[in-house]
Amino acid sequence: MFDCKIYLIRFHKKGDLQLDKPAIKFENVTYRYPGAEKPAIENVSLEIKIGETVLLTGPSGAGKSTLCYMLNGIVPHSFEGELQGDIIVNGVNTKERTIGELAFISGMLFQCYIKDKRP
Ligand SMILES: Nc1ncnc2c1ncn2[C@@H]1O[C@H](COP(=O)(O)OP(=O)(O)O)[C@@H](O)[C@H]1O
Ligand SMILES: [Mg+2]
Repeated sequence: MFDCKIYLIRFHKKGDLQLDKPAIKFENVTYRYPGAEKPAIENVSLEIKIGETVLLTGPSGAGKSTLCYMLNGIVPHSFEGELQGDIIVNGVNTKERTIGELAFISGMLFQCYIKDKRP
């Protein structure tokens, strides 16, 4: 029914939570995978506040997963491609941190495709 992903913002130390800042902010984000003709994400701006629960829906290929990869730096640090705009998570620009550093503030839990074999 929906591309099931749960977004977790985790703070590893007391005092790390930037209460005065949005949890997630995209500023005019455009991203193209290496060699792709069209951008997977085009001019997206959004703001998600601390404590908000957001359901991201759209058809296959709409860019949902790609958007998630931006929350913890997989884009642009692992998938290179072309990124324009800024992705700010807990006040941190993801371009300025490694994936390892971002893992302390942002995590992703993927859906599990394994069928439950219990009777
Ligand atoms: N690793 C990749 N390399 C090149 N293009 C990709 C890659 N992953 C996804 N895409 C393309 O980016 C677009 C968005 O894909 P994706 O974020 O997976 O969409 P969704 O999760 O909404 O189904 C699609 O056109 C898809 O083909
Ligand atoms: Mg997907």
